[in-house]
Amino acid sequence: MELTQITHIDNVRLSDDGRAVRILDQSRLPNETVYLELSQAEDLYEAIHALRVRGAPAIGIFAGYAMYVLARQTKAAQFGDFIQECRRHHAYLNSSRPTAVNLKHMLDRMLAVAESMPCMDIDSILESMRQAAIAIHQEDITMCTAISRHGLSLVKEGDGILTHCNAGPLATSRYGTALGPLFLAKEEGITLHAWCDETRPLLQGARLTAYELQRAGIDCTLICDNMASIVMKEGKINACFVGCDRVARNGDTANKIGTSGVAILARHYGIPFYVLGPSSTIDFTCPDGDHIPIELRDGEEIKSKFFEQPSSLPEVKCYNPAFDVTDHDLITAIVTERGICYPPFEDSLAALFGRKREV
Ligand code: MRU
Repeated sequence: MELTQITHIDNVRLSDDGRAVRILDQSRLPNETVYLELSQAEDLYEAIHALRVRGAPAIGIFAGYAMYVLARQTKAAQFGDFIQECRRHHAYLNSSRPTAVNLKHMLDRMLAVAESMPCMDIDSILESMRQAAIAIHQEDITMCTAISRHGLSLVKEGDGILTHCNAGPLATSRYGTALGPLFLAKEEGITLHAWCDETRPLLQGARLTAYELQRAGIDCTLICDNMASIVMKEGKINACFVGCDRVARNGDTANKIGTSGVAILARHYGIPFYVLGPSSTIDFTCPDGDHIPIELRDGEEIKSKFFEQPSSLPEVKCYNPAFDVTDHDLITAIVTERGICYPPFEDSLAALFGRKREV
């Protein structure tokens, strides 16, 4: 596959007839390439919950299209009834996963478009919602490209980059966030080496990150999560690049489970630890990491999902938090589309974006 094909992968969009959201089913990768067209509320919810569409920005883009697809199924003739339906769709989709704030931000934005047009007919409101969903997608493309460019300024020829989970084109719109600098480096003839944590239990690093990098012809090596320490100790890692699902006002950052461990190791070995993400992932209403809701998932994901036979007895209890919070003290910098924020993040994030987000 060409580099441009993987960086511009068509992972989420409106179907050709506009009646469904079309996604590349990430839960089937890397072994099967399956596209789905989803139009029913339960299927749209399930796609997020089952990680068919995943990665905070991609979930946000999906949410925008999903709100439009559901809204256009309305039979309501009155504005009030139509808004009640939109609110119901918002609440339902928002309950599919709790941690990535992009979901709520984009659902809020779509609802606000509808609510702001009380004097308009339903068709006009639907057209504005369609345009808003496309704008969310276009903005993500612009933001990811800018983040990738800022991230590229942090690396040099020959660097080893450790990454956790998947924050590439599949998880976003284009280039990705944490993986974006690697793709741009490749385009510019700079050689980097990626080390991919496999990312237990759902293996986003092995299934998706290694897939994207390999397809792009970027030198990458897969490791189990518990190998990061030795790879760092051996001097193979010059920087850690990770994505984010929610960044609190003080810089505390929720990302895939295991990320905080990588940050603690990086501090121990004196390696810079960078978080890369768009402003749509910053939650200025959230003061710190203690206020970020952490998704708990089914223990079968640990015991049986990727094994031919269960790895443990059926009665063994599991604890399966899907995210953890990296303390802001462990983060060297947060790379956004507007630039690179350094500590104290409370000040640098506020200075770049202002305390109040526009929705
Ligand atoms: O459970 P997932 O696969 O949705 O978790 C995703 C992550 O943790 C990503 O690192 C994050 O969403 C950033 S994607 C640019």
